[in-house]
Formats: sequence, C-alpha cells, structure tokens
Amino acid sequence: MRHILLIHHSASGGTRALVAAFCDGASATDGVSVITRSAQVATAADVRKADALIIATPENFGYMAGSIKEFFDRVFYACMADTTALGGGTESVVAGRPYSVLICAGNDGSGAMLSVDRIITGWRMRKVHPGVIARRVGGEAGSSRGTLREDDLVACREMGQLFAEGLLMGAL
Ligand SMILES: Cc1cc2nc3c(=O)[nH]c(=O)nc-3n(C[C@H](O)[C@H](O)[C@H](O)COP(=O)(O)O)c2cc1C
Repeated sequence: MRHILLIHHSASGGTRALVAAFCDGASATDGVSVITRSAQVATAADVRKADALIIATPENFGYMAGSIKEFFDRVFYACMADTTALGGGTESVVAGRPYSVLICAGNDGSGAMLSVDRIITGWRMRKVHPGVIARRVGGEAGSSRGTLREDDLVACREMGQLFAEGLLMGAL
C-alpha cells in the first residue's frame, strides 16, 4: 500500500471542500490511501512515513494559515538527518518524494502557495503538480464568504486521481 499524507487546516470550510474533492479523486485507485491529518496533530513521523505529501491551506494575510506554519516549525528539522559524523551535513530524509499544494483564497492565493513551496524546497521534495488555487466567488474581497467554483473542485479531484495513479505506477 502507498500512502499520500494530506496535512490540512480550514477555518470556514473552503479548504475542507478541496480536501474532500482530492480524496474523492484518489479513492478510485486501489493500493493507495490518503491519510488526512489536521496540521495541529500531524507529526514528523507522519511525514517520514509518507510516499507523497499534500499541504492544504487557506491564504491568510498573503501567507499560509498559522497552524500550517506551526506544523512546519515543529517538524521541519525532525525530517532532516544529521550526517556530519559521516562527513556530510544535514540532509532531508524525504528528498525526492512528490508533493503539491491546495490553496483556498478569497481573491489571491499566490502568497500562500509561495510560502509553502519555499519551506518544502528545504526538504528538497519534488513538486510534481502545480497545485490548485481556488478563489471563492461572490463574497467580499478577502472575506470568508463566497462559494467555490465547480471547476476548482474538479481540478482537486483530478489532482487526487493523478497522485494516486502516479504513485501506484511509480510514475511520480
Ligand atoms: C484572517 C483572514 C485573512 C485572509 N487573508 C486573505 C489573503 O491574504 N488573501 C486572500 O485571497 N484571501 C484571504 N482571506 C480569505 C480566505 O483565504 C478564504 O476565506 C478561504 O476560503 C478560507 O479558507 P477556509 O474556508 O478553509 O478557512 C483571509 C481570510 C481571513 C479570515
């Protein structure tokens, strides 16, 4: 069995809907499971065990949600191995593994995407899918109101399917 770890935070349900669509898309593939973990409880052991990683976050103040940042603060160095005794430095134990990102935003989302990518660059994981930025429509700019576009939910579903099939086939 291959495992996709999906770390998430959602205050008003938008990101939760993206996560549900991703899981729906991945569910058709036998032999791959999606393990969803709230950012508040996710551990470095979860990350180290996973074959692929998805981060799902709202954009708050042009950045990832605070609980996602707190997750990275807590687990980042626990996913690095100290190889100085062997003449090396500090190396990522998850280097090369595939990852991508789901963002729910009011009117932008690019800052949240960039902030997650910058941190995961330090783990030297591979971004194998550009990810999805879903912007709510019909609400006031920057507010939690508004609905998600069906196109964005379809994109999340397709991303889930692609990750699951790609992992199973060893294509990611
Ligand atoms: C405190 C706060 C800050 C926000 N900052 C931004 C922002 O910088 N850019 C943006 O596009 N949307 C922003 N929004 C809108 C949220 O990203 C949007 O409502 C999103 O759907 C929230 O995701 P959730 O429903 O999963 O909690 C902000 C919302 C809140 C509550």
